[in-house]
Amino acid sequence: WPAFADDIDAILALKRERNAVILAHNYQTPEIFHCVADIVGDSLALARKAMTVDAEIIVLAGVHFMAETAKLLNPDKTVLIPDLEAGCSLADSITAEDVRLMRQRYPSVPVVTYVNTSAAVKAESDICCTSGNALAVVKSLGAPRVIMLPDEYLAKNIAAQTKVEIIAWKGHCEVHERFTAADIRELREAHPGISVLAHPECPPAVVAEADFAGSTAAMSDYVARHRPERVVLMTECSMSDNVAVEHPDVDFVRPCNLCPHMKRITLTNIRTALEETRHVVTIDPLVAERARWAVERMLFV
Ligand code: 13P
Ligand code: SF4
Repeated sequence: WPAFADDIDAILALKRERNAVILAHNYQTPEIFHCVADIVGDSLALARKAMTVDAEIIVLAGVHFMAETAKLLNPDKTVLIPDLEAGCSLADSITAEDVRLMRQRYPSVPVVTYVNTSAAVKAESDICCTSGNALAVVKSLGAPRVIMLPDEYLAKNIAAQTKVEIIAWKGHCEVHERFTAADIRELREAHPGISVLAHPECPPAVVAEADFAGSTAAMSDYVARHRPERVVLMTECSMSDNVAVEHPDVDFVRPCNLCPHMKRITLTNIRTALEETRHVVTIDPLVAERARWAVERMLFV
């Protein structure tokens, strides 16, 4: 990628000079994902691998809640996010006060909070989850009812797989809520035999018609294991671009929805982040202590 060569060379040199690593989510563009990232993965993998990082600086190529999670797990390291405005519609859908009110409404019902939330919301919860471990986290509580915040569709998709009663919130991912079951039917008609993989943030009607539903890492593993002739990933656009690089023999049909928040991260602002040590992620220590507990508890499930 000649157009990116300058920034890529500069970032690789800066990583060495600054003793920095780059953690990138699966939705980052291929030039970030394949050329400068040290660690890539879904939200769960990034959280797990953040704990093993041996560097002074972590640059999180992803959205703000991911950078906060990395900071929670690395309180003594400098965690940078290249654009502070890289948010998430799910994280914006709920506040810490909302969680406190839910607790009042449903006393003694455990609260499972999706990692796509602020540290302040995590601090009010009993345990976190990602799309990769949500079912296991719910089961691990051994409770007949759980509150699962804030993704309504993830909660409903998990509820379909367990007898545990799930009380949901009304948050949605602005990327995944746009997929419909009709999209899948049209795809199957246009491409007979196509494998349809959906992210569990998609509406339940989409998940019901897909061949497989799982986190971004699970979708990638599915392609590696099954090597379908033709596949569509009902998720963010860069996902197919990144997975396709590793599977030139698989035909990726690519109707997709862009996440404007993920796309705020670019090679240029990663380079600036490393040059100018910005933007440093900070979390109120009292909030951090409680939020860290909820994240760490999830990592032991
Ligand atoms: P996972 O990578 O954990 O599946 O999450 C998807 C997502 O939307 C992150 O923003
Ligand atoms: Fe949030 Fe959806 Fe973007 Fe992920 S894809 S960061 S859940 S808005």
